[in-house]
Amino acid sequence: MKPEIRPSKPFGIIVEGKGINIHEVDVTWLRELVWNERLIVLRGFRTFTGAEDFANYCEKWGEVSVWPFGKVLELVERNNPEDHIFDNNYVPLHWDGMYRQQVPEFQLFHCVRAPKSGQGGRTTFSNTVNALENADSNTRQLWEKVTGHYQRKMEFYDSKTVSPIVDTHPLRGHSVIRYNEPPAKGFGDFINPPTLDFTGVSSDEAAEFHQTLRDALYAPENYYAHEWQEGDIVVADNFSLLHGREEFETKAPRHLRRVHVLSNPPLNNPRLVSHK
Ligand SMILES: [Fe+2]
Repeated sequence: MKPEIRPSKPFGIIVEGKGINIHEVDVTWLRELVWNERLIVLRGFRTFTGAEDFANYCEKWGEVSVWPFGKVLELVERNNPEDHIFDNNYVPLHWDGMYRQQVPEFQLFHCVRAPKSGQGGRTTFSNTVNALENADSNTRQLWEKVTGHYQRKMEFYDSKTVSPIVDTHPLRGHSVIRYNEPPAKGFGDFINPPTLDFTGVSSDEAAEFHQTLRDALYAPENYYAHEWQEGDIVVADNFSLLHGREEFETKAPRHLRRVHVLSNPPLNNPRLVSHK
């Protein structure tokens, strides 16, 4: 079954469900849409009875990545969180799996409860393929000089990753950006922040590097922030996009479920230097 589709601005596709059961929609077709458009928003479908039903659905997309907690991450604000992921603050742009042994190709999100209008908490996506295509050659050359060194210890891993900013898409061969964005105001009030270091340019150039890259990633033609509605399913191409989160009002009703689906064959993280 093929529901109606329309473009999302500035990239991606909105698929209108009109009450169709999501289990009845051809996943091969949806996967092609994500490959071509990098992001799809499935809205208005009959969705899942619970986390297990969602995980079973994700198996249709490919091999699901298993975490110490299982297949489904419950993204919901915690009381006294041990990590900023479970806080209500902004999450800088990054790619998923950057600290894991395998990097997932797809992220599937299901919105169980959505914040109300004005409460924040949009999930943010930057299309790095577009950002590179839209960059002038001097700017791109500056980005190409830089390597990011990232270290992060949290309940699920203790890892170090070293990646060029301009990297190659592991399946398609075109260029993509891999960057864990340092917050403009620093990690001051973040619980358990990562350690980030960038080499390859002088300190003067480093400031220009972060500014031009941030400007490009957040430019309206490259950036999409998804405002959740209950029942939304979003599938994103984690090899081509970076993503993050806007802060949200504490105790706002925000509950997302997230599953990682590996590529075929699975991608062993080419940039992982150490992992515990
Ligand atoms: Fe993430």
